[in-house]
Amino acid sequence: MKEFKRYLVTSALPYANGPVHIGHLAGVYIPSDIYVRYLRLRGRDVVWVCGSDEHGVPITIKARAEGVTPQDIVDKYNAVIKESFHELGISFDIYSRTTSPVHAQTASAFFRTLYDKGEFTEQTTMQYFDPEAGVFLADRYVTGTCPHCQNERAYGDQCEKCGSTLNPTDLIQPRSTITGGAPVMKETTHWYLPLDRHEGFLRDWILECHKEWKANVYGQCKSWLDLGLQPRAVSRDLDWGIPVPVEGAEGKVLYVWFDAPIGYISATKELTPDWEKYWKDPQTKLVHFIGKDNIVFHCIVFPAMLRAHGGFILPENVPANEFLNLESDKISTSRNWAVWLHEYLEDFPGKQDVLRYVLCANAPETKDNDFTWKDFQARNNNELVAVLGNFVNRALVLTGKYFDGAIPAAGSLTDQDRDVLAELPRLRTSLEENIEQYRFREALRDAMAFARLGNKYLADTEPWKVYKDDPGRVATILNVSLQITANLAVAIEPFMPFTAAKLLGMLALDKPSWETLGSAEIIPAGHRLGTPELLFEKIEDAEIERQLQKLADARKSNEEGNREAAVEPQKGSIAFEDFGRMDIRVATVMEAEKIAKTKKLLRLKIDTGFDKREIVSGIAEYYTPEELVGRQVLVLVNLEPRELKGVLSQGMILMAQDPATGRLTLMSPASRVGPGAVVK
Ligand code: 2FM
Ligand code: ZN
Repeated sequence: MKEFKRYLVTSALPYANGPVHIGHLAGVYIPSDIYVRYLRLRGRDVVWVCGSDEHGVPITIKARAEGVTPQDIVDKYNAVIKESFHELGISFDIYSRTTSPVHAQTASAFFRTLYDKGEFTEQTTMQYFDPEAGVFLADRYVTGTCPHCQNERAYGDQCEKCGSTLNPTDLIQPRSTITGGAPVMKETTHWYLPLDRHEGFLRDWILECHKEWKANVYGQCKSWLDLGLQPRAVSRDLDWGIPVPVEGAEGKVLYVWFDAPIGYISATKELTPDWEKYWKDPQTKLVHFIGKDNIVFHCIVFPAMLRAHGGFILPENVPANEFLNLESDKISTSRNWAVWLHEYLEDFPGKQDVLRYVLCANAPETKDNDFTWKDFQARNNNELVAVLGNFVNRALVLTGKYFDGAIPAAGSLTDQDRDVLAELPRLRTSLEENIEQYRFREALRDAMAFARLGNKYLADTEPWKVYKDDPGRVATILNVSLQITANLAVAIEPFMPFTAAKLLGMLALDKPSWETLGSAEIIPAGHRLGTPELLFEKIEDAEIERQLQKLADARKSNEEGNREAAVEPQKGSIAFEDFGRMDIRVATVMEAEKIAKTKKLLRLKIDTGFDKREIVSGIAEYYTPEELVGRQVLVLVNLEPRELKGVLSQGMILMAQDPATGRLTLMSPASRVGPGAVVK
């Protein structure tokens, strides 16, 4: 096996458009934290980088829906995510973000190098364009009916109902998510990474040289390669992202999946001036931790980018996990079917290690798995409390009771003692092999085996029955038990760092080195212990019921949201003259600004064709001022003027309200007309 001098570990950069949930944790962040904590304990040279993925279309759509800027969205979620990771003990060396200046510079230079080396092709294709908004509709800006399952809310890149990957042109009845109108086809030019040029190399590198990769990862790569690789566009027509650093590319930005993995490089640069050692020396072992939906980008696209650039190492392994379901249903952000980390931390204060334990014990390493609150409770009560907590408590309390809290010296060992102690180095070897091979569930089982071993040893030797007749024997039993406890404190650190620290405090030990693991002599006789505390407490049914109720509520409100909304019944008839009294005109928005200290109100200056006037409109939740300027809108111009927040509002902008969501949408003429046009 190849020996490496150092490690560079990366974990998928979470999108900063929402908080992280247990699926992210079980798939990526908990396994990588275990791996890195283990490497650090072994004294290896390792850096671990992560950060928020802050570009891409979903962020801009969310910003538009909330009437804020994309920067507001990513600032908000970057902070939430970073804080919650920290509280869970996820110990990145750096948590950066792809809106950092270092990243913009790094990604831009990376693109430019490939461009200058002729590693891209340029293609002009027809893409959907929203004529009213005057923009191309990248990926999720087009929605429509899925051709496979008839879901009417499929996106231009994917149908979330049936999981198909789509092109915007596959959608039936496509609509722009900006204006709701039908898009038209228009020519646009983009840069493509010709993956086909790298296919021979990738086949050889993955299929021949990395047969040791996990079966799910290897299998997915093989299917992609067997289908034949196609050029992939690496730019988009969008106003949020890193500008394409080429003359004449105004309005085009790097595709989010081009810039995001370069974020690993930028984060390393931000962390250390020595970053090149980690990215360029073949004696560095690069490992990418990701979920299965990211396999193609990390095993095929990013390696092709790195190779095209030249000078970079390629990943040695990509231990991607499958998905975690929740109560037998797919975790879904849009349906709020998730256990959110920041909420868990609020609901279960001090129980970080319980979540870390359950998500590792049940990690979807080889197949999709299910998280249930009942299983969470059972693992806490039957494993953490009844095995780990119980063993440690008995060993410490008995030592307090019989030996006043000082470790007794062991007398002569029986076969039973020797057998138990012989297990310790064996467990260490197994644990190490399992972690090095990315089998974290098995590794956790090995760590817990120290506690099971100790628990069984105490149950078999029953020191509480022996003390009266043979206190010397009890001294040996407790010495052995406390050596097992010290081993346990070392072994569980990568998995449950909070508990490990607490346990070391109870043993009054400084953090012993990993090299002591397996030893029967970690704590010397006479060493005085600290005060025993409970490591874990039982989780009662009521707490689990509360969580199940929370999920039931989420499901209910989601179903209500999805139900075909009742369309308002028709109002009573009116005479034609009544309609004729309304003077509705097409007007152009000239200026727009938010009214201070209000959430919903905008002050608009409009050109009615015959005058210019001000209108106050309650649309700030749906449109930003910049989106409105230059737009044609319909205005009821002869509505009695009214003063609102100190502004005389002369008329009313007409809007349609979506019966399902309540969202307001502006009404505009289907084609541009002169201002002042009468609506009849
Ligand atoms: O799937 C995701 O959540 C992406 N934001 C992962 C990006 S990983 C890397 F390439 F940055
Ligand atoms: Zn579908």
